[in-house]
Amino acid sequence: MTRLRQSQGAAATRILGIGSSQPERVVTNDDLSKIMDTNDEWIRDRVGITERRVAGPKDTVVSMAVEAGAKAIAAAGLTPSDVDTVLVANCTTTVPIPNAAAQVAELVGVKGAGGFDLNAACAGFCYALAAASDMVRAGSAGRVLVIGSEKLTDVVDPVDRSTAIIFADAAGAMVVGPSDEPGIGPVAWGTAGDLVEMITMPNDRYIFQEGQSVFRWATTKIAPIAMRALELAGVQPSDVDVLIPHQANLRIVEAIAKRLRKNGAREDMVVADDIVTSGNTSSASIPMAMDHMRAEGRVHSGDVALLIGFGAGLSYAGQVVICP
Ligand code: COA
Repeated sequence: MTRLRQSQGAAATRILGIGSSQPERVVTNDDLSKIMDTNDEWIRDRVGITERRVAGPKDTVVSMAVEAGAKAIAAAGLTPSDVDTVLVANCTTTVPIPNAAAQVAELVGVKGAGGFDLNAACAGFCYALAAASDMVRAGSAGRVLVIGSEKLTDVVDPVDRSTAIIFADAAGAMVVGPSDEPGIGPVAWGTAGDLVEMITMPNDRYIFQEGQSVFRWATTKIAPIAMRALELAGVQPSDVDVLIPHQANLRIVEAIAKRLRKNGAREDMVVADDIVTSGNTSSASIPMAMDHMRAEGRVHSGDVALLIGFGAGLSYAGQVVICP
């Protein structure tokens, strides 16, 4: 019988570099209150957002991904030719063909790269990070550019106060490559497909969500998944220096942090709050939050970070990583 050769990759992987990109245009809560029945105090109180970035006509899922991806490659001290695979997590491209990854690879300068898009909505980046890490370990990729990029303003009704106050546009990226020491832990992922109706796009046009149901699900079900990711990585809650949940709503982020602290996480664990000035940017939020926190000096090389993404599907994924 013919026996096929199997590829074999690196013993371990790590994050080599991070980058992010946001459109220039800032939209404040006061700006929104001029076009819909809402106000700054309500949005700060219920969601924790003060302002968000909104794409201009030239900003696309691809253009933001290219900028974030190029920054991540440079931050890793690499050139595009050092990367051989591009993954773009997204759920907001308005046409499925051509996929974003092939375009991003070409524009970043990763000639002939393997590339594909991955849609797990707001959990997409953690899914893509796990896929990239496993591909490098399996030998099907050498170094992977992993990006989450979203132009949510294309799929949000601009005057729907239950979504337009929350969602925004951005991209975040990481380069994943081989490592002597493990820098990306095993993923804890899954779906709650029975709750699929909680976040949908009726008529293929605008996002609809059952806000209170999503809030309840996220504040009760996500912390145990985060605990599972710690367990898989062999890490104690007290070892976590930085918690970076998907930036869905500051109240959800705080609820997850509270549950983890009840389970032994430290009071001085740094908790991502990038949503305050960036809004909910779906699959871009986790890598962008890490990038911003590094720039602010709140996250340092070698820190143990717990990432946990969740959103439509309902889908979730989380892993422990060592910050580059
Ligand atoms: N501005 C001002 N008032 C608002 C408002 C807004 N944008 N939206 C709702 N209200 C009012 C309602 O009219 C209602 O008033 P009433 O009590 O006088 O009737 C009150 O606020 C509560 O409305 P409700 O729809 O129950 O709001 P909520 O407290 O559930 O908040 C969300 C709505 C969407 C902010 C919240 O449910 C949420 O963040 N859910 C999670 C969504 C999420 O994270 N999605 C992304 C997943 S990746």
